[in-house]
Amino acid sequence: MKAVIWLASVLCVLTGTVFGANQANTETCVVPAHGNGEDDSPAIKAAFESCGSNGHIIFAENNTYSIQQVLQLHNLSNVQIDLRGTLLNISIALELSGDHITVDGHNTGVIDGQGQVWYDLALGVGGLFGRPIPFSLRNARNSIARNFAIRQSGKWNFVIIESRNITVDNIKLTAHSDDYQANPGNLGNTDGFDTLYSDDVRISNSYVDAGDDCVSFKPGSTNIHVKNLTCVQTAGIAVGSLGQYQGQFDLLKHSRNGAYIKTYNGKSVYYPPQGGGNGTGLVRNVRKSIK
Ligand SMILES: *[C@@H]1O[C@H](CO)[C@@H](O)[C@H](O)[C@H]1NC(C)=O
Ligand SMILES: *[C@@H]1O[C@H](CO)[C@@H](O)[C@H](O)[C@H]1NC(C)=O
Ligand SMILES: *[C@@H]1O[C@H](CO)[C@@H](O)[C@H](O)[C@H]1NC(C)=O
Ligand SMILES: *[C@@H]1O[C@H](CO)[C@@H](O)[C@H](O)[C@H]1NC(C)=O
Ligand SMILES: *[C@@H]1O[C@H](CO)[C@@H](O)[C@H](O)[C@H]1NC(C)=O
Ligand SMILES: *[C@@H]1O[C@H](CO)[C@@H](O)[C@H](O)[C@H]1NC(C)=O
Repeated sequence: MKAVIWLASVLCVLTGTVFGANQANTETCVVPAHGNGEDDSPAIKAAFESCGSNGHIIFAENNTYSIQQVLQLHNLSNVQIDLRGTLLNISIALELSGDHITVDGHNTGVIDGQGQVWYDLALGVGGLFGRPIPFSLRNARNSIARNFAIRQSGKWNFVIIESRNITVDNIKLTAHSDDYQANPGNLGNTDGFDTLYSDDVRISNSYVDAGDDCVSFKPGSTNIHVKNLTCVQTAGIAVGSLGQYQGQFDLLKHSRNGAYIKTYNGKSVYYPPQGGGNGTGLVRNVRKSIK
């Protein structure tokens, strides 16, 4: 690591390190953190522009990044993202798209959604709009997320949507409201993992203590494999909500482990994802294994 070049506000280092099976990740971007609450989103975007294809992006350990914009980081390809530091904000929403994306938190990485403000706002409002989802893989293929934690998510924690061949391993999702004992209802919609329109997803060795569904196989979820998932104080493992989208037919098959089936009735109340109803659906070939 000899040549150090400042490019935009991103530290870029040329290395010969090889990541993944396909190609060498030749360019490394270390994302700088202000560390004083100033928005680090522009530097993050610059890092993904420089190193999002055949590159290596590092959020350094013990750095805290403040994220004050929705970060839709699309068209990534063969990228290794080391999330060793903490990403923080009440409106944090990171969405990754592309092929061969690896996000590795090395057991120090944290995404902190500072959700208390949302839990208080959402109290008694079943489907409050605008609550951010801290981490999603959307239209991602052949990708891996492992070894990081999400804390205090404002809404669903970890969403996999329109994706294929995804491995999720050793992820810890926790959300607790300060006044949970007084208001046990105020953690609604803080699901752990949600899958939508995705195929071939493996979730393993993970932990969810977040108040709502532990893992929810939502419409269009096929070949979802869950292994060694610990669910504490959750609503359980949910198949559904089926029939949430009016006029759409939901199908789910080849799923494993204990499940409950969640449906909407024939009345349409609000609109998805906050509400819904009056769709149709089918669940089949669900097998349960208890060791
Ligand atoms: C991060 O902080 C912890 C605790 O203070 C310390 O043990 C560790 O060495 C630090 N890591 C780095 C890379 O500075
Ligand atoms: C979170 O972002 C908001 C703007 O969206 C900003 O006002 C606030 O200071 C940020 N908080 C932290 C801890 O970065
Ligand atoms: C995605 O990246 C490829 C090269 O990696 C480029 O050819 C293509 O134009 C990009 N697409 C978009 C929508 O940015
Ligand atoms: C699935 O993704 C993994 C991780 O990127 C990759 O190694 C594997 O080859 C992919 N499998 C298929 C069938 O493409
Ligand atoms: C199950 O996952 C936990 C992490 O949640 C891990 O500590 C444990 O070793 C795993 N157990 C097995 C049998 O792999
Ligand atoms: C349910 O949806 C159908 C169309 O799929 C519509 O014709 C019907 O009016 C809806 N019923 C209610 C109670 O919303």
